[in-house]
Amino acid sequence: MAEPTAEPILEVRGLVKHYPLTQGIVIKRQIGAVKAVDGVDFDLGSGETLGIVGESGCGKSTVAKMLVNLERPTAGEIRYKGEDITRLSGRALKAVRRNIQMVFQDPYTSLNPRMTVGDIIGEPYEIHPEVAPKGSRRQKVQDLLDVVGLNPEYINRYPHQFSGGQRQRIGIARGLALRPEVIVADEPVSALDVSVQAQVVNLLERLQSEFRLSYVFIAHDLSIVRHISDRVGVMYLGRIVEVGSDAEIYEHPTHPYTQALLSAVPVPDPGAREHRERIILSGDVPSPANPPSGCRFRTRCWKARERCALEVPELAVPAEFRGLSGPAAHDSACHFAEEKHVVP
Ligand SMILES: Nc1ncnc2c1ncn2[C@@H]1O[C@H](COP(=O)(O)OP(=O)(O)O)[C@@H](O)[C@H]1O
Ligand code: SF4
Ligand SMILES: [Mg+2]
Repeated sequence: MAEPTAEPILEVRGLVKHYPLTQGIVIKRQIGAVKAVDGVDFDLGSGETLGIVGESGCGKSTVAKMLVNLERPTAGEIRYKGEDITRLSGRALKAVRRNIQMVFQDPYTSLNPRMTVGDIIGEPYEIHPEVAPKGSRRQKVQDLLDVVGLNPEYINRYPHQFSGGQRQRIGIARGLALRPEVIVADEPVSALDVSVQAQVVNLLERLQSEFRLSYVFIAHDLSIVRHISDRVGVMYLGRIVEVGSDAEIYEHPTHPYTQALLSAVPVPDPGAREHRERIILSGDVPSPANPPSGCRFRTRCWKARERCALEVPELAVPAEFRGLSGPAAHDSACHFAEEKHVVP
């Protein structure tokens, strides 16, 4: 794994995405908002992998889409090398977008079935011809196939001729086509068989050191990000509730939600199992259109008390001090994070 440096490549501040909730078919009235992402802050160090974890619907894909400019934020900043890219347009935006690319969750639906693999991987060159003039594209695509472990002779085949794992390699090759610096991988292995998940994660790790990439690696399961992440941020209902180094999050989680997520992860070491009681979360995730007051986790938290309904718990440490080498790398948005972990 590449060594993270202190210099952040991305700085995300106060990121918000609210989708309007409308009623009526002919005359649409806005009756509220789905608060998909509701105040997210983090830094991504150059060469670092930040894992983002949380249950389905907590806003992970919405964060990913904003990072690669597929969605415009309702509020907040995304600074790439110090520049807020949410305010850019035209050529300046295009130049920055080239450097931040996405690998999508589902390799079955994200590849156009009517296009050859060569056209799929080479498609970004249509928008950025300066990266690969027409005459050089075929060779570039074949090189990319080779880099992701596929036979360059497959260039004229169609997606259905490949397995799930191979299709995700094609998606990764397309993500690399413009030689980006940041890859946002949105649950890149969730749709794959367990047996091929590790191969794709290993490929991403190899590519990271080969091309000095920085990753935002999204997953709904803590066991997958553990292998690849330097730091992990845990999301719940549109917010980051705990962030820390891989070791802190896995060995000393302080937010009750992280503790619950971790208790569901199989522990290979029998000694460690003693400290880890199984916590079953009761109830469903509340609707992001109507999150609970105070702490959003309180309707499912066994430690909740009056203060939790009245006051929103915040991460105490500003994002710029939360890097791996920062003075307070581990932080938790819980009023009672200092208390010993007591299971009901
Ligand atoms: N285009 C959209 N319009 C309205 N609501 C949306 C839209 N996209 C996502 N949402 C809602 O925002 C919330 C977060 O979704 P998403 O970011 O996809 O979560 P995750 O990737 O963590 O599963 C969900 O409640 C989802 O239904
Ligand atoms: S602030 Fe209260 S409800 Fe929220 S996680 Fe902490 S103890 Fe639970
Ligand atoms: Mg998602």
